[in-house]
Amino acid sequence: MEIDDERLGMLLDGTSDRPDADGMDRKLYFKELFRLQGELVKLQDWVVAQKLKVVVIFEGRDAAGKGGVIKRITQRLNPRVCRVAALPAPSERECTQWYFQRYVSQLPAGGEVVLFDRSWYNRAGVERVMGFCTADECEEFLRTVPEFERMLVRSGIILIKYWFSITDEEQHFRFNMRIHDPLKQWKLSPMDLQSRVRWEAYTQAKEAMLQRTNIPEAPWWVVEAVDKKKARLNCIHHLLGQIPYHEVTRTPVVLPARTHHPDYQRQPV
Ligand code: ADP
Ligand code: AMP
Ligand code: MLT
Repeated sequence: MEIDDERLGMLLDGTSDRPDADGMDRKLYFKELFRLQGELVKLQDWVVAQKLKVVVIFEGRDAAGKGGVIKRITQRLNPRVCRVAALPAPSERECTQWYFQRYVSQLPAGGEVVLFDRSWYNRAGVERVMGFCTADECEEFLRTVPEFERMLVRSGIILIKYWFSITDEEQHFRFNMRIHDPLKQWKLSPMDLQSRVRWEAYTQAKEAMLQRTNIPEAPWWVVEAVDKKKARLNCIHHLLGQIPYHEVTRTPVVLPARTHHPDYQRQPV
């Protein structure tokens, strides 16, 4: 059985998540994770066979575990079929474009799945709270996004949106872990520190966002994410349930015999 390298690291350096936030039995977790990853492979084959276009959005506060679940989803999949879009802050040029433009260019073609690690919802979250956009721009965004998403869905895109929910205490704990772990320090950005200071502002922004963009064509699904293992399993399980797929039968592969080239001369390196 393969061991999770993140977990191995924690065992080796003697650190571990708090038991209460990490309560699930490890063996059970891996068993279920591997089963679900097997199902994701079947889903991938189905997406390719049916030329489906799938967009999954992962939103949530800093350190909510979006990156962790995305990693487990992509782990066993073909990166040409299932890729991650994690856009950096917009460039000066992008700032002059239509707000959705740089996200639109990331949308899938037939037979592709795109996982958005943060998304256009930045405008209603970090940009609003940190003042990277004006109140008018945010209002315009909230008004536009349901229309925008309905257009995507009508064009044949399957759009699934997850909000990863953690508590104040859990975020505090995870940031502290990042401060003290050299392997995790890169995850801690100036934005993250501000998100501690501005917890309340983020709460208000989140509530407005979830309320105004929860459309029947693309509802929000909230993942309780204080327990990382349960959050990952729940989210993947839910995702699999959103797309009815059937197993695509593969033609059995027979390994061809290698050919021998008697003339071939091995060249000294
Ligand atoms: P992450 O949490 O995704 O690792 P950060 O915490 O650094 O990354 O930033 C959170 C989000 O804020 C990112 O999606 C980033 O693109 C966005 N962001 C950072 N700075 C700006 C900015 N000046 N204008 C708009 N968006 C920004
Ligand atoms: P999120 O969905 O990530 O915003 O987190 C929601 C969780 O945070 C819920 O468990 C809330 O009860 C909790 N929460 C929201 N606001 C606060 C606050 N100001 N202080 C402590 N916990 C909060
Ligand atoms: C997460 O854990 O939610 C993501 O890694 C985002 C972040 O770095 O804060």
